[in-house]
Amino acid sequence: MKFFIDSANLDDVRKAVELGMADGVTTNPSLMAKETGISFHQQIATICGMVDGPVSAEVTALDYAGMVKQGRELAKIAANVTVKLPLTPDGLRACRVLADEGTMVNVTLCFSAAQAILGAKAGASFISPFVGRIDDVGEHGMSLIAEIVEIYSNYDWDTEVLVASVRHPTHVLEAARIGADVVTMPFKVLEQMYKHPLTTIGIDQFMADWKKSGL
Ligand code: G3P
Repeated sequence: MKFFIDSANLDDVRKAVELGMADGVTTNPSLMAKETGISFHQQIATICGMVDGPVSAEVTALDYAGMVKQGRELAKIAANVTVKLPLTPDGLRACRVLADEGTMVNVTLCFSAAQAILGAKAGASFISPFVGRIDDVGEHGMSLIAEIVEIYSNYDWDTEVLVASVRHPTHVLEAARIGADVVTMPFKVLEQMYKHPLTTIGIDQFMADWKKSGL
């Protein structure tokens, strides 16, 4: 299972890289907007230089021609740029064109298995179902992941299931149980995965006993 860091913040990316847990990065307009005093393309270029894996950069055009234009500009930034396109008719059309040109595409804002089938047929490298937002409206986001993984296993599509809108370690655990290809998470969730009170207590006890022993 690949871990992507869901952030446009360079410190978040750096910390995840130092941990050896950054197989890629995903950004979106809201995450990018949180970073002040930056240039979008420069921030993407910097992040692309920090990780070897795919870095998702989202178009802001909503029309097919604008998406293709922006996607081609983003793809020129670095070889590991993955163009993020919304799951709309224009996004699917642009996905097909960019994928046929050899550009990695992450089709985002996916909320149904039907949408996920369209993303795969459009040639997406990644499909991003937003599990947290599905949970927010009282449905079960991870059930959608299970459904998509099951459907994709019936075909030889190259599209990887990228679990997005991850809010806590349980999303990661369930994604691993289901066999999703990728999970993208805020650095905070990665921290929550390694932090455990019993680990801290155990280290403290080892150190106290060692100190007492005089060894
Ligand atoms: O990659 C998509 C992710 O950033 C959305 O997360 O928490 O805004 O639903 P969230």
